[in-house]
Amino acid sequence: MTEKNKIIKLYKEKIQELLKFNKAYFEKDNPIISDFEFDELKKELFQLVKKYPFLKKIKNLDGLIGSKPSSKFEKIKHSKSMLSLGNAFDKEDMLDFKKKIKNFLNTTSEIELSSEPKIDGISASLRYENGKLIYGLSRGDGIFGENITDNLITIDQIPKKLIDAPQILEIRGEVYIGKKDFEKLQDQFANPRNAAGGSLRQKDSKETAKIPLKFFAYGCGEINPQIFKSQTDLLEKLKLWGFSINPYCRVVNSMDDIETNHKNIESLRSSLDYDVDGIVYKVNNFNFQERLGSTSNSPRWAIAYKFSSVKAITKVQNIVIQVGRTGALTPVAKVQPVTVGGVVVSNATLHNEDEILRKDVRVGDTVIIQRAGDVIPQILSIDKSKRSHLSEKFIFPKKCPCGFETIKEYNELTKKTDAVRRCPEKGFDCKYIAKEKLKHLVSKEAFNIEGLGKKVIDNFWNLKLVKFPSNIFSLDYKKISNLDGWGNTSINNLKNSIKKSSTISLDKFIFALGIRHIGQENAKILANYFIKSKKFLELLTLSKRKKILINLKSLDGMGDTQIKSIDTFFSNKKNIDVLEKLVKYLKIKDHKTLNEKSLFSGKTIMFTGGFEKMSRSEAKSLAEENGAKILSSITKKLNYLIIGNSKPTKNKIEKAKELKIHLMTEKEWYGLLNR
Ligand code: IVH
Repeated sequence: MTEKNKIIKLYKEKIQELLKFNKAYFEKDNPIISDFEFDELKKELFQLVKKYPFLKKIKNLDGLIGSKPSSKFEKIKHSKSMLSLGNAFDKEDMLDFKKKIKNFLNTTSEIELSSEPKIDGISASLRYENGKLIYGLSRGDGIFGENITDNLITIDQIPKKLIDAPQILEIRGEVYIGKKDFEKLQDQFANPRNAAGGSLRQKDSKETAKIPLKFFAYGCGEINPQIFKSQTDLLEKLKLWGFSINPYCRVVNSMDDIETNHKNIESLRSSLDYDVDGIVYKVNNFNFQERLGSTSNSPRWAIAYKFSSVKAITKVQNIVIQVGRTGALTPVAKVQPVTVGGVVVSNATLHNEDEILRKDVRVGDTVIIQRAGDVIPQILSIDKSKRSHLSEKFIFPKKCPCGFETIKEYNELTKKTDAVRRCPEKGFDCKYIAKEKLKHLVSKEAFNIEGLGKKVIDNFWNLKLVKFPSNIFSLDYKKISNLDGWGNTSINNLKNSIKKSSTISLDKFIFALGIRHIGQENAKILANYFIKSKKFLELLTLSKRKKILINLKSLDGMGDTQIKSIDTFFSNKKNIDVLEKLVKYLKIKDHKTLNEKSLFSGKTIMFTGGFEKMSRSEAKSLAEENGAKILSSITKKLNYLIIGNSKPTKNKIEKAKELKIHLMTEKEWYGLLNR
């Protein structure tokens, strides 16, 4: 290679590196290098161009660098959380969504839905007070957003003043870049969505202003006084106020309507100037929306019905085994990088041992991969005609890479052996599980440690800086400061965010432990039961544990699987040791019931029989909103048994009477709730 070619090669490599870092920053919002390292790389590139001007012709650096935004935006709490949406992938999922809504609302009538294209951009929330735009926030973690007002006001389609608006009005919508406009930016970003995200997070709004961002309004946060009766009502008014509303929004009623609408928009998709990845269906009536409420992550009144996925052909370069946090061994195909729907894919899941056996995927195979929404890409089929006669069947290992023999569990419920092979419940004894547990612990929904993402955990793990959760709270910063890319600023940032995260709510703490079968919802149920961390930590003591586990059984949502899993977790000596060491660094806040002074705070409730005016799910969710814990069996701990008019269980009433539990009729229950 000539000297000139060597320089070109080096230059191209450095640019690739920079693009990778940019992507990690914008796409995952998780910088994989420090600001210092980033600046060094920038400097190097500039010096190269200065010394060898011919490089300018290879690739101009303008616009490529200098674009890294600062992550230090002021954080503001959303007055109403910005939730995400559940997904539907086919007609069945949609029928299920409709059925659940009707059951919850206790009705057999068709429910009117507002249908809106799901724009693949970045969501933002705008707060107007007395008609004046006060600030605009990014979604952030859904609870706290970043104050990106200066950047949002560069968008023409965001009105700065509204006439005749309610005193408080929060409008939510999607910021996006048109496909045509994106063409000019494609060197810097993988797809229009990342470009919109990156531009919105520029520290210098003059940079944002150069990018033609657009905005579709689709919803609301806090409104006072509430003047809208339905989603269509809201959209119409938004249009009058000067917001841009997607022209394909309409109202649908039946499943046939939904399917026709879906096909229509899907066929228009490629001709639209913005990326649409599905259709959002929302219960139109606001009163119904209010009643339906939400689960911990998403509203019950809306769903995203995704379009069919995008496919691509590639080659399997290797098959590796990944061990998940719960010990599941997942075969993953490392494929020749290929662009699928605007995203470069180099990994595809093969699900489990049975799946890989069934499909007989081999290294070297030509395969069709599919990517649907945010789901991990998967291998759809293999072109066996292209297979080499030398290829060998993949033998699924019987041992976890850590060395333990693996197992396939027997499922008592389905009476079938699980398709997933697992490293048995060794917890931190398996180093692969241990590392995944750490990643889970620092994740957004758990300790939410900013600047300590999966990549950093991998790095610290390899350098033996972290092994157990407590190590995160007692990091050897001296060692870290000797590492490439860790300057004073990044170390101080890390110190601060770890310190901030060491104060944690009880439900997040429980979730962070990564106990199998204890997700966010169950962690909340448990926190609501224990209230104080001291009570929760009694699970560490064998004599107390058995009794607690029996009591947990009566909690609605805690089945045998969950109880067994909690027992297994706390029966593991290493887990106990890890936990005891961890809590020393933490301040775990008592669980706050939604309304401390509410009707049923601290009380337990059980329902029997059907209700006339509301479904069981609505009754439960109302009770929980009013601070109650819902039990599923009658024990001395029960405070109220609410008896529905339709077929209440006699035995339960008898038993409750014996235990002198307060009985309440359906009518009294409505009376209490002012219904
Ligand atoms: S409604 C409670 N409507 O999709 C959730 N979302 O995962 C309210 N999106 O974060 C969202 N178009 O960024 C809604 N017409 C639309 C939308 C839309 C795009 C995005 C939004 C949200 C994500 C849901």
